[in-house]
Amino acid sequence: MILSRFVRQSLLMLCLAMVVAVAFTQVAVSAEYQPMVGQAGKDVVWVPTCQQLVDTMLDLAKVTPEDYVIDLGSGDGRTVITAAKRGARALGIEYNPDMVALSKSNVAKEGIGGKAQFVHGDIFESDFTQASVITMFLLPELNMKLRPQILSLKPGTRIVSNTFTMEDWEPEQTVIVKDRTDCGDYYTALFWIVPAKVEGAWKLPQGDLTLKQSFQTFSGTLKSGAKTFPVTNGKLTGDAISFSVGNGRYTGRVSGNTMQGTLESGGSSTKWSAARAGKTL
Ligand SMILES: C[S@@+](CC[C@H](N)C(=O)[O-])C[C@H]1O[C@@H](n2cnc3c(N)ncnc32)[C@H](O)[C@@H]1O
Repeated sequence: MILSRFVRQSLLMLCLAMVVAVAFTQVAVSAEYQPMVGQAGKDVVWVPTCQQLVDTMLDLAKVTPEDYVIDLGSGDGRTVITAAKRGARALGIEYNPDMVALSKSNVAKEGIGGKAQFVHGDIFESDFTQASVITMFLLPELNMKLRPQILSLKPGTRIVSNTFTMEDWEPEQTVIVKDRTDCGDYYTALFWIVPAKVEGAWKLPQGDLTLKQSFQTFSGTLKSGAKTFPVTNGKLTGDAISFSVGNGRYTGRVSGNTMQGTLESGGSSTKWSAARAGKTL
């Protein structure tokens, strides 16, 4: 008798505990922060990049597990999470603390562990110099405000922007997503590579090289004795350099105040190197 009463009471307690637990879970789920597309942000509202474009942006930047991807203004964390799923280390910098919390909870659901991190911060006061890939969906004027900092990143750092340009810094590639069903007006990925800095005077064994750089392109002159030859087709892809002088084609790598490579001319190939003349970086 006592035992059956005890069992009945225990069962009742168990049922009550289960009801409370279910109710608690429902409150927790419904209490999860629900962002609204277009909600205010510090410098730009939140509109998510559609998943097709997130994938296209990371494809364009050729993200691999070797990369460290930083999303500037990371919203609900989708770009960071997608990069982490590709094996990259990824960080989102986001000003809205609720969005940071939501991103962290989205990471927990994905089970991708420590690869995806989020910090609450202002992109204009954050250090993103360690990134090998920067992703952003901001505004043209914000891209322009960040441009000097972006151009001073390590040569070869890849930058991808959803839709918005960096004015006269032409992208290397512009790609429109194949299926833009979920993308609204934002379906274009723009891709840049931070170029090495070569503007100025250089000493080549063949003479004095003077270069005028405009982002990833440059022109100039090679002064050899009394003769001056134009430098044409100057191109920088990160630290990879190429240019022509007459019918000679120079290719190589820039490393700070030196550069070196191969000169192809008249069917023969020789090594070349140059060092900065005068004021060094
Ligand atoms: C257009 S949404 C893009 C979100 C995400 N990158 C994506 O592509 O889905 C821009 C995000 O930047 C955030 N944001 C605005 N100003 C910011 C600032 N100064 N620092 C950090 N985040 C900012 C907004 O809260 C918003 O989540």
